[in-house]
Formats: sequence, C-alpha cells, structure tokens
Amino acid sequence: MSATIGVGVPDRPSFAAPPPLALYIHLPWCLRKCPYCDFNSHEARGEPPEAQYVDALIKDLEFALPSIWNRRIASVFVGGGTPSLFSAASIDRLLSGVRARVPLVPDAEVTLEANPGTFEREKFEGFRAAGVNRLSLGVQSFAPHQLTALGRVHDADEARAAAESALAIFGNVNLDLMYALPRQTLDEATADAAEAIAFAAPHLSFYQLTLEPNTLFHRHPPPLPDPDAAADIEEAVHEMLAAAGYRHYETSAFAQPGRECRHNLNYWQFGDYLGIGAGAHSKLSFPDRVVRQVRWKQPKQYLERVAAAAPLMENAEVSRADIGFEFMLNALRLTDGVPAALFAERTGYPLLLVRDALAAAEARGLIERDPTLIRPTPLGRRFQNDLQALFLREETIA
Ligand SMILES: C[S@@+](CC[C@H](N)C(=O)[O-])C[C@H]1O[C@@H](n2cnc3c(N)ncnc32)[C@H](O)[C@@H]1O
Ligand code: SF4
Repeated sequence: MSATIGVGVPDRPSFAAPPPLALYIHLPWCLRKCPYCDFNSHEARGEPPEAQYVDALIKDLEFALPSIWNRRIASVFVGGGTPSLFSAASIDRLLSGVRARVPLVPDAEVTLEANPGTFEREKFEGFRAAGVNRLSLGVQSFAPHQLTALGRVHDADEARAAAESALAIFGNVNLDLMYALPRQTLDEATADAAEAIAFAAPHLSFYQLTLEPNTLFHRHPPPLPDPDAAADIEEAVHEMLAAAGYRHYETSAFAQPGRECRHNLNYWQFGDYLGIGAGAHSKLSFPDRVVRQVRWKQPKQYLERVAAAAPLMENAEVSRADIGFEFMLNALRLTDGVPAALFAERTGYPLLLVRDALAAAEARGLIERDPTLIRPTPLGRRFQNDLQALFLREETIA
C-alpha cells in the first residue's frame, strides 16, 4: 500500500526515555534437527564447544555494553536450539558473567528453554541454582506417533517426567505444544490439550504447525489437516484453555492471571532487546534512532567473528517508513492491544505516522480504538495478516 505521511511527522524519531530492555541469549545446538524447524539450530554431532561458546557470549556482551550504557535488563531469555544441552555449570558461568556486567532489575524473569530429550532432574536443579527462575519446555505433543512424526528425540513419558520435574523445581513453567499435526484428528488434539492443562502450568503456548521454507517438511509435506479441520481444532483447544482459566493474551500464548511471559510481552509491546549469540537479533533505541542488528549465524563463523571483535553481520537503522508497521506487527498480536500512547513512546514518532492505516483498519472492522487504546477486534485477530498488511507502506510525503 502506498500512503501519505501527514505534515507534522518529524524526519527522525526522538525518545524522552529509552524503552524497557530485555536480553536474549541464543544457544544454537540440538541433538537432532527436527524436520519442521527453521530456527537457527544445528545438530551437535558430538559435544558442542560449551566453554568456548560461553566465553564468546560474554565477550559479545562486552562489545555491546556501549550500546546499552546505563540501562537495566528487565528479563533474560536463554533460547535455542536446545539450551538444556548445556551443563548447569556452563549456564551458571553464563548468567554470572551477565550479572557481573549488566544490572538486572530486582526479580528479573530469567527463562531457559529445555527439551525433554535432554532432561535430567539434577540438571534442572542446577539451572535453578544458576538463577533460572522460569523454564519453557518443548513438549509438542503427548501422542507417541506424533512425536515420531515430528522427529522428536523424546517420548511421551519423558515429556511428562520433564514437565513434572520442571513444575516441582521452577513452578514458573511454560509448556510448548503444537496442533494441526500430520493426520491429527480433533480428538487427538483435544487429548493433547487436556493433558497439558492437567499439569496446571502457569503458561501454555499452542502453535499451529506451519511448513517453513528450508525445512524437510517443506520439501516433503506431511498430510496436515485441511484449513477447516485446523480451524475446528483451534476453536476447540481455545475453548478448553479458557474453561481451565487460561487467558488467551497473544496469538499463541495462554496464561493464568498475572503469569504472562514478561520477556515476550516486551517484544510485543515493542520494547528493546539485545540479542547475543549466533544469529541473534537485537532492536535498540538511541535518543534519535532505532537500530536492528543481526549476529553471524553459523556457530563456527560466530565464534570466529567474536574472536575478531566483529560479531555483527547486519546493523541498520529502522526507517520511518518501516517502524509503524513493525510496531503494529507486534502490538496487534496482543488480545488487549496497547495504550495509544505506547506508539510514540516506543517508535519515537507521533501516532499520526500511521493515521491512514489506522483509519482503514477501523473502517474494515479489524481494530477498535479510542484516544487511549488500540486493540484488534476478534475479526482482526482472525485475519491478522490482512490487518498487519495495512501498515506496510511506501512512503510519500503530503
Ligand atoms: C525456539 S522453538 C524450540 C524450543 C525447543 N528447542 C524445542 O524444540 O522443544 C520454540 C517453539 O516453537 C514451536 N515451533 C517450532 N517450529 C515450529 C513450526 N514450524 N510451526 C509451529 N511451531 C513451531 C515449537 O512448539 C517450539 O517448542
Ligand atoms: S529441538 Fe527445537 S530448536 Fe532444535 S531443531 Fe527441534 S524444534 Fe528446532
């Protein structure tokens, strides 16, 4: 869409105060690559170079310190890949290294992603002792044939045992599940949801399986439920979660009251984040600009580039033409939407920047708004891609 920018929108952003800041740390190895996964994850083929990688992460953070000067970290997320492949001692050294270099807010949320196949109870206890206070566990399904179809390294009993230990040790736990799996019936999907709900974890994520380019499933697609069947599954699962007291607060995220993931909320509210590690993305605001950075992707290349004091593969300013879309892409995933004032606080531009797109979205019944709030309607949440596309623009000045 081509839109005009009204008189009164400045050329450059300006920030009275920087947005909240989160830290993402990427650990890129897995036991085996899952056929549906397009994350920057690599089969370990032997022991990953843990000690060398933790050293590199700490160096990477040190290089980044001037860009987050004087700011505190509100949450840390150690994601992957499979971070739980790393020993508790390595995670301890990593988190101690972080705390020694940047101040964390009191009670900062510190999440680590774990896979049942790499589970040992003592390891979870070690992660807890290292300062991890939230565990995100990749269950995907409790049906044995689905775990096989998804190429998972764990079986259903390992997933159950890992969920029980995670809840006993951390309390603050997320379980990741996927639905609309190969040949999945409605009954199978609701059985998965019922079992996940029975654990009473404070947070559940339900993702519809998507066929991502550059994956084995994309090249050899499995027989997935058709769109109508997938929509029926989604509706049934969402009803079960609501009945069990989980609020559907974001497209794929469900939480008991007050147990939303603070780290992810910061992304959706267009906060800042520093991402360290192979392929990690950052978005950082400065008084007069917003930049996006991407680190070198291949683990070996990343280690070499950090050693050469140059971990960044990309470092570019976010343009005025893109920033409104980027804000809305995130904010409109939230069921409650966002305060209208957040746009200026987080993009550095007045809301006037997206005036035409907001009006178009409202006219089509995709958002509702008043002077204090912008929120997707149920229709807007259902047709999220159409809604977000309204904010894509080629900039012309009026
Ligand atoms: C960063 S990933 C990986 C977490 C962890 N390594 C695991 O596999 O359990 C986070 C979650 O994204 C979801 N996911 C990954 N690929 C997906 C796909 N193609 N479609 C839908 N969800 C996907 C999975 O539920 C996964 O647990
Ligand atoms: S374990 Fe997780 S990150 Fe690794 S390949 Fe599978 S889905 Fe991707």
